[in-house]
Amino acid sequence: MLALIEAGYDVEIVDSFVNAKHSVIPRLCELAGRDLRVHEVDLTDRAATEGIFADAAARAAAAGRRLGFDAVVHFAGLKAVGESVAKPLAYYDNNLGSTFSLVEAMARHGIRHLVFSSSATVYGDSYPAPFTEDLPTRATNPYGWTKVMIEQVLRDVAAADPTWRVGLLRYFNPIGAHPSGRIGEDPQGIPNNLIPYLAQVAVGRRAELSVYGDDYPTPDGTCLRDYIHVLDLAAGHVAALDYLWDATEPVGTWNLGTGHGTSVLDMVAAFSRAVGSPVPYRIVDRRPGDIAVSYADPSRARAELGWVASRSVDDMCADTWRWQSANPQGFPDA
Ligand SMILES: NC(=O)c1ccc[n+]([C@@H]2O[C@H](COP(=O)([O-])OP(=O)(O)OC[C@H]3O[C@@H](n4cnc5c(N)ncnc54)[C@H](O)[C@@H]3O)[C@@H](O)[C@H]2O)c1
Repeated sequence: MLALIEAGYDVEIVDSFVNAKHSVIPRLCELAGRDLRVHEVDLTDRAATEGIFADAAARAAAAGRRLGFDAVVHFAGLKAVGESVAKPLAYYDNNLGSTFSLVEAMARHGIRHLVFSSSATVYGDSYPAPFTEDLPTRATNPYGWTKVMIEQVLRDVAAADPTWRVGLLRYFNPIGAHPSGRIGEDPQGIPNNLIPYLAQVAVGRRAELSVYGDDYPTPDGTCLRDYIHVLDLAAGHVAALDYLWDATEPVGTWNLGTGHGTSVLDMVAAFSRAVGSPVPYRIVDRRPGDIAVSYADPSRARAELGWVASRSVDDMCADTWRWQSANPQGFPDA
């Protein structure tokens, strides 16, 4: 959002706050240097979603503008893989339902530019890395299937009305934080991902990191992932949106990754460098569902969007640590 504002866009936020704290908003305003319009709405609520668009359309008409919004960047969704296995209906309902209601409201109001947060999980577990966008998609869990299905829904919507311009952004492993240390990742409960877990061990909230398996066919036996700084990811959204204004094809699909795999143990070492002392870890059994190697072929995003990820793993760890050490418990509850 801040990257869009810095690029000159005027942004409004919609979030149900099912996985966000309200105290993030004043910090976003502080970093944006102005007040932000926030709609606390569950996007599965069709009437409430329509209300946001109708309100924006009325404000635009009063100001002599044609559209309430020019485009939508659709991040909303539930994202915990394990939880999606336990509660598949909740994931399909929320992730697909919010997309249906959003796309319907957009279509009703003549807004046809959409950037969607997809995921490398659409490549499933049986292709060798690097992954290219042309590989057939297949998921291994309900969360991943929601991404595969939403991509298909959006392709079908754009096929039915080719005036749509849709960007499907397949994120690899976003980490890092805003360099100010004011906003960062604040998972609820036990973190599912490596870096938030490492950060909570380093700050003393958890005893040690469990490294799931050191017998994978990789140089040090631990899994390789394509970590990408959240600021590079944000820049990818700005690049995609800018591209869509003049795009000739209705749908573009782009990997947002660095093209390099980093092992779990290399990440532990990088994070320990950022902290200035070793972060304790223990090797345990493999975790079901983990694939050995995942990294992007990001060449299409470079060629078409002019986008490349420029920040290093050390930058990612330093920014994560700045955020976590200044905010050991994450965002305040109030
Ligand atoms: N973080 C990752 O590793 C990763 C990787 C690939 C893709 N993605 C995707 O990127 C997007 C953003 O991820 P994130 O890591 O910032 O997650 P996040 O949970 O921080 O952000 C998602 C936001 O959507 C909101 N939300 C969920 N359902 C909603 C609904 N029905 N109506 C309104 N708001 C709703 C949540 O409150 C939350 O603030 C998600 O779609 C996620 O699946 C994330």
